[in-house]
Parts: sequence; C-alpha cells; structure tokens
Amino acid sequence: MTFAATVLTLYPEMFPGPLGVSLAGRAREEGKWSLATVQIRDFAIDKHRTVDDTPAGGGAGMVLRADVLAAAIDHARSLSPNAPVIAMTPRGKPLTQARVRELAAGPGVTALCGRFEGFDERIFAGRQVEEVSIGDIVLSGGEPAALMLLDACIRLLPGVMGAPSSGSEESFENGLLEYPHYTRPAAWEGRTIPEVLRSGDHAKIAAWRKQQAEIDTRLRRPDLWERHEGARVLSASGAR
Ligand code: ADE
Repeated sequence: MTFAATVLTLYPEMFPGPLGVSLAGRAREEGKWSLATVQIRDFAIDKHRTVDDTPAGGGAGMVLRADVLAAAIDHARSLSPNAPVIAMTPRGKPLTQARVRELAAGPGVTALCGRFEGFDERIFAGRQVEEVSIGDIVLSGGEPAALMLLDACIRLLPGVMGAPSSGSEESFENGLLEYPHYTRPAAWEGRTIPEVLRSGDHAKIAAWRKQQAEIDTRLRRPDLWERHEGARVLSASGAR
C-alpha cells in the first residue's frame, strides 16, 4: 500500500525538499509513499487570487480565509478521501511518536500549511481538521513542520528502515529517551567507550542501556520521566 502524502501550501516548491533524498527519497522512488501538493492560491475566488485578509478585531499580520481553505481542503479530500487532514499550527496538540505511529499505519496524511498569523478558526469546526504542533516554537510557516511530520511517518513505513529493531528501541517508543551510542575508535581525545559495551555480555549491556535511558530521561526530560513513572506505578497497582 502506498502512503499518500498531500500537502496544501502556498509554497509547493518547498516539497519534497529534504524528503527527496536519502531514506525518504528512495522510498518514494520505490512507490512506498506518494506526494501531491495542492496550491492553496488556486482556490482563491477573486481576480487577485487573494488567500488572506486582515484579522477581525484588528491586530498584526494576516489570516488565511476560511472559504479559500475549505475549497482547497475539499479538493485534497477528493485526492485522498481517507487521509486525516492535519493543520500545522503552534496552537495545535503537540505531535507525539504515538500519533506518528498511528498515522504511518493509515492510508496517508493531508498536511495543511499556514503562513502569516494562521487560519480562520471556523475551518476547524466546519471541516474535520486536526491541529498539530511540532513544538513550542514559532516557525514562519507550516511547511517545515509538515516536512517533519511526513519524515517521521515515512521512516516507519514497512521496508523503509533497514533494521526494524532501530525503530522499536529508539527514543519515545517505551516512554524514555534512547540510551547513548558509541563506536570506534575505542579511545578518542582521552575518552573511552564504557567498558560494559566491550564486554560481549548481552544481558549486562541491555541492563546498562536501560539504566542509562532512565538516568538521561530523568535528567533531560523530567516531564517524560514523570509520565513514565506514573504509568509504571499504575500498571504495578493493577489499575487499567
Ligand atoms: N507553524 C508555525 N509554527 C508551528 C509549529 N510550532 N508547529 C506546527 N506548525 C507551525
């Protein structure tokens, strides 16, 4: 099955961009995913091809018009009827690896990219549109966020990643950051690889990696650690 990526944007020339090379580029050539871009401006209704207007109530910037967006979304839905429509916005729900996994297992993703101050809010009620943020930062537009979302999905598609285990052990898959990695040379700038990794004792290595993942998560991401511990305590108590 081909994963159908559709991107609604005012800058279709930004795609496939980085998704045209390496893993994603090869996977696209192999037909594992497809890309369609929709130029939002093609759905403007006036002769100047206007897509935005000033914010109601005043203020800075411009807002993408609901009527233009609706026409563009309806067109994208006709191209890929079962793919969820996801608007990239810093006001959205933070994207998680769990949501990426769900999306990668589905028929595709239709990503709606905003520019300016954002979208007319009515679009989210009038059309089934999920709002997603890639982090608490503000980009100049949704395009880099859409590239990130698609990249995260594409690498999970069957046959795209070389070794399947590198998907299940990595950061966030078990609620923790991944353990640190090392490779040759064994000594570099006075620093050596942890001895246990050269022991050949797989059980000891696995235990060390688990411990490192826990330490790093606790120190770097107390938010993740708290959730992880919460889930562990709940499951130990037999609660569902
Ligand atoms: N557009 C601008 N900033 C964004 C963000 N943080 N996430 C998703 N889309 C965006």
